[in-house]
Amino acid sequence: MTEHQLPQGFETLAIHAGQEADPQTGAVVTPIYQVSTYKQDGVGGLRGGYEYSRSANPTRTALEECLAALEGGARGLAFASGLAAEDTLLRTILKPGDHIVIPNDAYGGTFRLFAKVLTRWGVEFSVADTHHAEKVREAMRPNTRAVWVETPSNPLLGIADLAALAEIAHGAGALLVVDNTFASPYLQQPIAFGADVVVHSTTKYMGGHSDVVGGALVAADAGLGEEIMYHQNAMGAVSGPFDAWLVLRGIKTLGVRMDRHSSNAEKVVELLTKHPKVSQVLYPGLPGHPGHDVAAKQMKAFGGMVSFRVAGGEEAAVEVCNRAKLFTLGESLGGVESLIEHPGRMTHASAAGSPLEVPADLVRVSVGIESIDDLLADLEQALG
Ligand SMILES: Cc1ncc(COP(=O)(O)O)c(C=O)c1O
Repeated sequence: MTEHQLPQGFETLAIHAGQEADPQTGAVVTPIYQVSTYKQDGVGGLRGGYEYSRSANPTRTALEECLAALEGGARGLAFASGLAAEDTLLRTILKPGDHIVIPNDAYGGTFRLFAKVLTRWGVEFSVADTHHAEKVREAMRPNTRAVWVETPSNPLLGIADLAALAEIAHGAGALLVVDNTFASPYLQQPIAFGADVVVHSTTKYMGGHSDVVGGALVAADAGLGEEIMYHQNAMGAVSGPFDAWLVLRGIKTLGVRMDRHSSNAEKVVELLTKHPKVSQVLYPGLPGHPGHDVAAKQMKAFGGMVSFRVAGGEEAAVEVCNRAKLFTLGESLGGVESLIEHPGRMTHASAAGSPLEVPADLVRVSVGIESIDDLLADLEQALG
């Protein structure tokens, strides 16, 4: 048995899966293969299977193998952004006349993709409360091909019961697609609960340093993985080699970062729940959260994302965001630095007037891995 046949834990896979030392130089880190084309040894004589970097690139292959290993899937695929991954998946699994069930709480850009782009291609969707499995069952139609969920969801931190939803989707001949961006595979592996495809914005925790935009899909089944790969090449929204390398580097520390994000978030939640200016804290780690028991069953810890509602309404919430200093006011999430934002006016502005509209008094924080006392002091002063 070689060392690579030994059973491997998550952190070992994060550092090594798909990343053998470079056979030519022994470089322990996968090189950035910044190249578009590859010399052939005679027509069709490919060395290592590479012919053109839209189809495949060695740095991207390393990332894709690592993604598949971390999510426990058959095939990982890396894209130029989370939305590029979503678009490629949807146009692989849906055709005009098909129907998909989507959540009533999701990233605004995901909703925009369904509502403004896919409907123009003849795809129908229904919005359901995916945090209650029975509501999803009621929304299923004879032409439903997929159920799409985020858990925890963005920005309301709702929890979906993946095992229950897999049963409902599969019973109706549909796929279960899970956006695992908020949890990351370190905290939750949806395929183990029956998901067919896992979606990531690798821009977030996977990259982890706010220096790259990327997306990923992991298919549980090799056949579906092949179909998506065909569309990835046909549609071309691939991750470039440097971006793939940045995500690969970020993933090596995912486990330790997620541990710290989660423990810092718990302390932030403790402060917020006691604060008189906060009317509600949304965090699946709270025993009173409606999805707490399900989250405890399917997540290793509750993650670094926290949302809260500010007593005093929209302007008071905006003021909290404006006053924060160490919590940087900005979109996105999942980096080592803490971020704060007003979803209604920022990340979820595109959901205004839709069933996914978010409360106006909502503030979302991405709790980073800075010293916790500094984070708590900043929130105290921002709340005023
Ligand atoms: C949960 C979730 N899914 C998908 C996306 C889209 O990813 P990207 O911005 O990388 O296209 C985002 C972006 O914020 C997100 O938060």
